[in-house]
Amino acid sequence: MFEIVHKRQLSEAVFEMGVRAPRVARKARAGQFFIMRTTDRGERVPFTFSDWSAEGGWIRFIFMRVGKTTHELSHFEVGDSVADVVGPLGIPTHVEDVGRIAVIGGGVGAAVAYPVARAMADAGNEVTVVLGARNEDLLILREEFEALPLKELLVVTDDGSAGEKGLVTAPLKRLAEAGEIDHAMAIGPAIMMKFCAATAKEHDVPCVVSLNPIMVDGTGMCGACRVSVGGETKFGCVDGPDFDGWEVDFEELMSRQRVYVDDERAADADYSRGCSCHQ
Ligand SMILES: Cc1cc2nc3c(=O)[nH]c(=O)nc-3n(C[C@H](O)[C@H](O)[C@H](O)COP(=O)(O)OP(=O)(O)OC[C@H]3O[C@@H](n4cnc5c(N)ncnc54)[C@H](O)[C@@H]3O)c2cc1C
Ligand code: FES
Repeated sequence: MFEIVHKRQLSEAVFEMGVRAPRVARKARAGQFFIMRTTDRGERVPFTFSDWSAEGGWIRFIFMRVGKTTHELSHFEVGDSVADVVGPLGIPTHVEDVGRIAVIGGGVGAAVAYPVARAMADAGNEVTVVLGARNEDLLILREEFEALPLKELLVVTDDGSAGEKGLVTAPLKRLAEAGEIDHAMAIGPAIMMKFCAATAKEHDVPCVVSLNPIMVDGTGMCGACRVSVGGETKFGCVDGPDFDGWEVDFEELMSRQRVYVDDERAADADYSRGCSCHQ
């Protein structure tokens, strides 16, 4: 069992959680993820590390309540335990001094962008972060990003309730057009990563994306997470989650993400009927 040692509600549907998992914490790197089961009969759900401490023996992650398991997890409190945590999984984000990089975090993808931006800055890069959300309430980790040694933090919301009004692709386009970045990394919903990669490509800026296909075992055995990259089949869990955004078949990714949508809705509706909270 893995004890919950930290919980913070960041917005109506977004939570930060810390779990005691010393062996996982010792090996975690930016861009990697783990698979959790809330109970011994629960489904396996992947989450990316947003932070960790090898000394403290804990890992942190940020999740959005989107369906049955994340709904159930949102009711776990400090002192409760989840059944298992397996990781770290996936290849860490490649971190080296590449020069000037834009790290784009959209929605809950900001949680993944945070350790990446920190590692890129620590490696000597000039890092500009573009932090995006649908509205101010859904904007997460702004203060944490502000505390990093960034070149600039650009905040964007769809409705203009915080920062610039619009989509994250607008500042990305400006940075690329002005020749102010050599690389980009985009983490967020598939549709956002698709347009970030396309915008970067128009300006000949390489763009890495962190993919989130449906995963089951996380070890390359089940094939659930297969994605097409440059015409080749890759497994998100062992070949990724980071891939060359120019080469990803995003249409296929998005259609595969929707395969179980009816079952997922039914499972959440069933769980919600027996749940005292209101979503
Ligand atoms: C490598 C990776 C890292 C991720 N990191 C985070 C994170 O840090 N924070 C976060 O909020 N979410 C993250 N996700 C997505 C998270 O795993 C899903 O939100 C979660 O599994 C939803 O489960 P549910 O039962 O609550 O919702 P459901 O109703 O079952 O599903 C809602 C949606 O979540 C996605 N999903 C469902 N099951 C899985 C699965 N087994 N694997 C992947 N996606 C699934 C699908 O797009 C689905 O339509 C990550 C996914 C991957 C693959
Ligand atoms: S999740 Fe099974 S092969 Fe990747």
